[in-house]
Amino acid sequence: MNAILQHEVISKVVNPSSVEKLSLLMCPPTLYEVSYVINPWMQGNMGHASRQRAMRQWESLYEVLSELADVQLVQPIAGSPDMVFTANAGLARNGVVAISSFYYPERQGEEPHFRAWFEKAGYKIVDLPRETPFEGEGDALFSADGSRLWVGYGTRTAESSHAALSGLWDAEVTGLHLIDPRFYHLDTCFAPLMDGSLLYYPSAFDAASIEKIEAYYPAEMRIAVGESDALSFACNAVNIGKTIVLNLISAELELELRRRGFEVVQVELDEFLKAGGAAKCLVMKLTPELHRAPREGDEMERKEKSEAELIALEEQYGAHNYHPLDVVIERAQGAWVTDVAGRRYLDFLAAYSAVNQGHCHPVILKAMVEQAQKVTLTSRAFRNDQLPLLLRDLHELTEFDRALPMNSGAEAVETALKAARKWGETVKGIERDQTEIITCSNNFHGRTIAIVGFSTDAQYRAGFGPFPAGFKHVPFGDADALRRTITPQTCAFLVEPIQGEAGVIVPPEGYLREVAKICRENNVLLVVDEIQSGLGRTGKLFAYMHDGITPDVVIVGKALSGGFYPVSAVLSSTEVLGVFQPGDHGSTFGGNPLACAVARAALRVIVEEQLAERSAELGVYALARLKEMSSSNVVEVRGRGLWLAIELNVPARPICEALRDRGVLCKETHETVIRIAPPLMISREDLDWGLAQIEHVLDERRVENLDAHSTRSEADAFAPVA
Ligand SMILES: Cc1ncc(COP(=O)(O)O)c(C=O)c1O
Repeated sequence: MNAILQHEVISKVVNPSSVEKLSLLMCPPTLYEVSYVINPWMQGNMGHASRQRAMRQWESLYEVLSELADVQLVQPIAGSPDMVFTANAGLARNGVVAISSFYYPERQGEEPHFRAWFEKAGYKIVDLPRETPFEGEGDALFSADGSRLWVGYGTRTAESSHAALSGLWDAEVTGLHLIDPRFYHLDTCFAPLMDGSLLYYPSAFDAASIEKIEAYYPAEMRIAVGESDALSFACNAVNIGKTIVLNLISAELELELRRRGFEVVQVELDEFLKAGGAAKCLVMKLTPELHRAPREGDEMERKEKSEAELIALEEQYGAHNYHPLDVVIERAQGAWVTDVAGRRYLDFLAAYSAVNQGHCHPVILKAMVEQAQKVTLTSRAFRNDQLPLLLRDLHELTEFDRALPMNSGAEAVETALKAARKWGETVKGIERDQTEIITCSNNFHGRTIAIVGFSTDAQYRAGFGPFPAGFKHVPFGDADALRRTITPQTCAFLVEPIQGEAGVIVPPEGYLREVAKICRENNVLLVVDEIQSGLGRTGKLFAYMHDGITPDVVIVGKALSGGFYPVSAVLSSTEVLGVFQPGDHGSTFGGNPLACAVARAALRVIVEEQLAERSAELGVYALARLKEMSSSNVVEVRGRGLWLAIELNVPARPICEALRDRGVLCKETHETVIRIAPPLMISREDLDWGLAQIEHVLDERRVENLDAHSTRSEADAFAPVA
């Protein structure tokens, strides 16, 4: 930091026309003090400022902002302690700066120093008439697209400055009357955010100004803060891209900003509040961020993407084979997704474990993009340079001899069934077309005809018969039933180590060990469907590992793709997968180079980020927290790793809708079970927040009030949205 303080008056000469990255101007508080009173904040603080503390706080702000922008420095001048508030130096855009002329003589001494800085930096200087007080960016803020310049007046900047500012830039100047002396600069109560929304404190403005604000910013784009946030200068925020840097704010406001896609960085700046300033006051934006001006057709695009319309389109043109929660997701990152209206949600489903690595993981994305630029599909008519590497990686990670890659989970299950049957005939010696496969009641292995044929769920089967023969059921968790059901024709037992779709049903302790023993004794293949339970979800790479067994066949899918591109595989021995001869089985897309590159990266992330270990640790914690929640609506809480279920004595759907309204996405399974399966990279803090929302919604009184057609009214009640 010393190096910074030793900078010359002008630390760097900027050529405004060549600047693309956002530049900021700051002034270190080496001479900071409160030596006069020109706003209510300063009252009682004369001589009470701690320069050392101010320096520490300023340095924190400087460090955060330096990561996001190019920070220029102007050095302080003795006798002008408020120079630290560089927002008041002037208003700069496109190489032109309207230099401030301060209202109070106490600050007028700063003017020549700021002017000198801008002159040296090559800006075109515009002076407003001397009799027109104008306090720079502190009172003049551009809308995100730059088309509107909001100018505060009534406390410092004069209304007459508006005419002088008109025409300097291609922006319509709109005055806002400040009526609360505590919010004496516009930037203390008004922050146009880069997504086109507005963070503001309505009580600081007169009625006519509020009308102007509301005419410009539609209700969903206005984030009105309450008095306590306003008083800690929540609106005095520096917004760069998706990051908002500000003094401390309430949890509610932070949540609202995060739900709108912002990362909130809080930097304690209370030392500067003694002089009536915080983050934004300490910073002047020198170059606008590059924002696309609205184009013709934008309105149309916005309309087309409206939530209701998208839902209606899907209902009109799609098959109604799902009943999704009405949240229309537009983008996602990590554990969070954002809908078309910009609301953020914590994902507690992770695409049924397909995004264990978190949404849009950068390592997998990079692998996908790089491979997509080379070759994506060869078909297995030819070889490609990625398949061998995926096969080797799978072998090294899982120790199975061989793998057969497919696309969807159901295809991999079908592949395993075919392998098991052919093994039954060719290796075990079962008579042709007589093999039997034993499955479990309440199983879920996918949706093909064969698979739904051995489902015990009436709806999954109804209308889709006739089904292939050769499948039997035993109750899940009952090893003796398996022993009794095996015949000489039995070639395989197909089982989920934990039944996901059935409601995260964990079998009795030792079940899989017993099953493995029975299969071995009877020369029956143990085929474990790890499509949902595998790749870290239960706290180990595979769920069967909790029992210390090695199955004969393992089926993987979902997270093998990291959520980018469907990839599944059957892992087994040479004896089993060796039954396939060329032409026996295949898929145009199975083992394609794009899928293989994605899967390799997806596996790497699971291992390198220790996601299985993380799932184990966070899972124990989350299960304990859920068990602590006292609600008479909860029948049972169960699960393993970060794969949990809450069994209720009331319908789960309205609870999931209420959770959605509070920013958490969960999906019911069957009527009364909520499944919880967040991405495994979720932070403890986010997990805690999501669990707190569950606790809130499960509160008995609230459950009673839920109906099947939830509105977003609960969210309105807690979120500080105007
Ligand atoms: C255990 C299990 N097996 C198979 C499948 C089917 O996978 P896919 O939907 O990719 O066909 C699923 C999907 O939820 C599953 O959970």
